[in-house]
Amino acid sequence: MGIASRPTYLDCHRSFVSSTESAKKILNNESGKFTKRYIKSIAELVGDQSLLCASHGHHKLIRGCLAFLFSASSISVFIKQFDELVVKSLGSWQDGDKIVVLHQATEITFKAMCRMLMSLENEPELQMLQEDITHVCEAMLAFPIRFPWTRFYKGLKARKRIMSTLDLIMTERRRCSQGNQKDFLQCLLVEDEKAGSDETYRMTDTEIKDNILTMIIAGQDTTASAITWMVKYLGENQDVLETLRAEQLHLAEKMSPGQFLTLEDLAEMPYASKVVKESLRMASVVPWFPRLALQDCEVEGFKIKKGWNINLDAKSIHLDPNQYNEPNKFNPSRFNDDSKGAILLLSIWDGSKNLPGSEHGESHDASLSSSSNHNIQVEGDRLRLKY
Ligand code: HEM
Repeated sequence: MGIASRPTYLDCHRSFVSSTESAKKILNNESGKFTKRYIKSIAELVGDQSLLCASHGHHKLIRGCLAFLFSASSISVFIKQFDELVVKSLGSWQDGDKIVVLHQATEITFKAMCRMLMSLENEPELQMLQEDITHVCEAMLAFPIRFPWTRFYKGLKARKRIMSTLDLIMTERRRCSQGNQKDFLQCLLVEDEKAGSDETYRMTDTEIKDNILTMIIAGQDTTASAITWMVKYLGENQDVLETLRAEQLHLAEKMSPGQFLTLEDLAEMPYASKVVKESLRMASVVPWFPRLALQDCEVEGFKIKKGWNINLDAKSIHLDPNQYNEPNKFNPSRFNDDSKGAILLLSIWDGSKNLPGSEHGESHDASLSSSSNHNIQVEGDRLRLKY
């Protein structure tokens, strides 16, 4: 079935679209009939100036300001930083240690995001911030009840603390004009201070803070769970792991010791890139994409009324047997021919004019490929390091 719809107890229709063609149309949104729609409680947690909650027109303006984060030069710096963190984390493992991949991956992705966004490396500060981010993430999945013991309330409190921390960091940056920092925050502050009356949109402090919080959340959990799924799939598919390892060893031979990955190195990892795509397809880390109908319209013959919620069901699309032969089989080689059968939702989305460019795809390709670049051996439910 392509679309399923039912009224909820709040008298608000929620429909799930599970056909690839309709998902493409809705994501590309050429006729402007749809907009992003996250529930109100999420806006309270990430802030109503966040990319996830901004209105259609406002979203475009903020996206314009944030686009450089996904530029080739930013991604180049990010790859090196990410690889450095992965190497450091793997270096701390001892043979026989019990490792919870999700925890390790979350620590790496959180640190990577904080470094990329605002060069934050101070351990106690990072630890406090990570605890607060965890409260906000938990609150996003909780029922929005505001009693001091509820997860939602704790999330709101944590958001307040995060905003104060970001305020302090921004004030300090402005006071010391630490121009040597080349991070995301610095770029936004420099833009903000540039004199002149050009038409370029400048982000307010609230927009900067809401979107830094959004980026940490958007980049941290998605990437960490994708890494975790990838490790699981590699453990279950030793032939894939061997092919991947051969590609990585070949690349390692060309690199000098202690050298970190570069953007150019990613081009030398075609198999790793397919492993990343196949892991994202099988795991559907973001299981559905919520949208709001801005006008009455029709999807696959079903009438959709203005104000209805339309959810793109990523899982059904990624496991559609009409698009993918043996959809439940982990087979990175299905992406050998990119033009055939590669209907990965993230690729449709990346190609869309209304959403971040293909570099958003590269940012997760970069982090996931970096994680696959190290000698991890998975035996059943055990992880071993091979030097
Ligand atoms: C494997 C890793 C990742 C996955 C699977 C992923 C997936 C997604 C998906 C599916 C969306 C679209 C949601 C929608 O349209 O409703 C999204 C949005 C977004 N992601 Fe990612 N993402 C990943 C990594 C990252 C990273 C590393 C960053 C930041 C550097 C990031 C920043 C964002 C932002 C800012 C948005 C909102 C874009 C907008 O509204 O214009 N993501 N991500």
